[in-house]
Amino acid sequence: MSISPYQSEIDRRRTFAIISHPDAGKTTITEKLLLFGGAIQLAGAVKAKRAQRSARSDWISVEQERGISVSTSVMSFEYADLSINLLDTPGHNDFSEDTYRTLTAVDAVLMVIDASKGVERQTRKLLEVCRRQRTPVITFMNKLDLDAMEPLALLENLEQELGIATTPFSWPIGSGPHFKGVYDLRDKNLVFYQSAKRGRANERVLVGDLATPILDELLGSDAARLREEVALVEMAADPFDRVKFERGQQTPVFFGSALNNFGVKELLDCFCELTPKPQPRITLDRLVEPEEPEFSGFVFKIQANMDPRHRDRVAFLRVVSGRYHKGMKMLHVRTGKTSVVRNAMTFLGRDREITDEAYPGDIIGLPNHGTIRIADTFTEGEPLQFTALPKFAPELFRVARLKDPMRQKALKKGLQQLCEEGAAQLFRPFIGSDWIVGAVGVLQFEVIAARLRDEYRVEVNFEQSRFKVCRWVTLEEGTDRGRFETRLAGDLFHDERDNLCLLTETRFRADYIAENNEGVLLHTTMELA
Ligand code: G4P
Repeated sequence: MSISPYQSEIDRRRTFAIISHPDAGKTTITEKLLLFGGAIQLAGAVKAKRAQRSARSDWISVEQERGISVSTSVMSFEYADLSINLLDTPGHNDFSEDTYRTLTAVDAVLMVIDASKGVERQTRKLLEVCRRQRTPVITFMNKLDLDAMEPLALLENLEQELGIATTPFSWPIGSGPHFKGVYDLRDKNLVFYQSAKRGRANERVLVGDLATPILDELLGSDAARLREEVALVEMAADPFDRVKFERGQQTPVFFGSALNNFGVKELLDCFCELTPKPQPRITLDRLVEPEEPEFSGFVFKIQANMDPRHRDRVAFLRVVSGRYHKGMKMLHVRTGKTSVVRNAMTFLGRDREITDEAYPGDIIGLPNHGTIRIADTFTEGEPLQFTALPKFAPELFRVARLKDPMRQKALKKGLQQLCEEGAAQLFRPFIGSDWIVGAVGVLQFEVIAARLRDEYRVEVNFEQSRFKVCRWVTLEEGTDRGRFETRLAGDLFHDERDNLCLLTETRFRADYIAENNEGVLLHTTMELA
C-alpha cells in the first residue's frame, strides 16, 4: 500500500526541545544542529544574532535591556529528509513557565549535561516534567574536552539523580586535552576528529573497529585502556529498549563536545532515527491521532510585543492533527468563534513568515490582540479541549506596589489580563486587597512590570511577599466547603481562572492543613484546560 502524501508529511516530522542547566552548552549545540541541518552557514550565528537583538528596537524592553531571549522560539530545518522543529526553552535567568509549557508541545527531548558537573538543578526540574508526560529523552554529555567526570561515574550520576536508566550509544576516546573522538558502540566504529577552519564542522575520520592497529598508533598505551573500558561497558550496560525509551524510562547517552563538534553528528543521526514522529494528544473526550484528517491543535505559549507598533500577540500552536492551509476556517473552541485564518506564521528563531500549510508536529503562530489564551484549542469544528497542559505551583511570590495609587483599577485590569494570558500567575486573597503574583522565574516579574508600563501605563515595583508555597485545592464530595473556607480564609486565594488555592509561608503549614482537614486535597499542579 502506498503512503499518502499527507501521511509521509507526518512521518517525516520531528518536534523536540533541548533542556539543560544554564551553561551546559544548549546554545552551542543548538547552533551545531542548525549548522548540520544547513539552516545556518557559520557557527557563531545564533549567538551573534542574540547579541544583535539587544540593539534592535522592536523587542520588549526587558529583552533590550538585558540582551536575552525572554521567550521560547521555534527553529525549523530539514535534515536527512526529515522536517525538524526545534523548540527553544528559556533556561538562564529567563527560566519561566514557558520553559515548562514548551515541553508539552514536543515529542522528544535532548538533555545536555555538562560532563564536569553532572546533573544540575534546572535539569532535574525539567526532567520531572518530561517524566510526567513520558517524553522520550536522549542525553548528550557535553564538554568532554574539559576536565570531565569519568564516563561511568556520569552514567551513575544520571541514573541516581534523575531515576532514569541509561544506555550508552557512544563512548569517549580520552578526555580533557586528550579527548580525541568517540567510539560508536552501535556501529562499532572509532570516530576521530580533525580540527577544521574556525566555525566549520570538524572533519570526522572513521578509523575502524577497536581491533585496528591504527588505534595503537593514535593512542599509544591508552589504546589498551579504551579497549578494556569498552569491553566493560558492553558487558555491563543495559541494551537499548525501545519501549522503555518511548516511555521516558531509559535514555540513550552520547558523549562529546558541542563546541568542537565532537560527537554531534552521531547524536543528530541517532536522534533522527530514534525519536518518534508526531504523537497523539489527549482531549477531555478522546485521544486525537495525528493521522486524523481534520485540523486540531493547542496553544502552549503566548508571546506579546513581537511588534510593539501593532501591540500584537502571537499564540504558538502545536498542530496535533490534520493540515493547516492558508484561508481555512478554524473554530476557537473556548470562545465558540469560527474565523478564516490567513496569517499563520512559521519561524526560524526570530524571523517569521506567513505559511501556506502546516502538518502535525509543526508549530504555527497565530497573531491576535489578546483573544487567545494558553491551553486554548483550535479545530475545524469539533468542540475538543486538549488537556495535559499544567500550571506549575510558582516558587516566587511578589506583591505589586503602585507608584501612583490612582492607577489601582488599571493595575488590576493589567494583572488580570497578563496572568490570564499566562505571563505569570495571579492570586486574589479571600481577605485583604493585596493581589499576589506568582512565578517560577524572576524574569517573569520584570516582563510583567515592563508590560504593565508599556501596555497599561502603570508603574509598579514588585515587593517580596511572605508566601513561599502554593497548592491548588480540591474538595472531595461531601466536604463542607463553606466551613473549610471560613476556617482558613486567611490562607485562601483564587487564581486568575478562579481556581481555589492555598498560599502558605512554609511547606510544613501546607502539609499540616492537608493532614488536618478531611476531604481536602492539595495539588502542586493544575490542569489549565
Ligand atoms: P547554555 O546555552 O546551555 O547556557 O550554554 P552555552 O552553549 O552558551 O555554553 C556555555 C559556555 O560553555 C560557552 O562559553 C560555550 O562556548 C561553552 N561550551 C559549550 N560547549 C562546550 C564544549 O564542548 N567545550 C568547551 N570547552 N566549552 C563549551 P562562554 O565563554 O560562556 O561563551 P562564549 O564566549 O564561548 O560564547
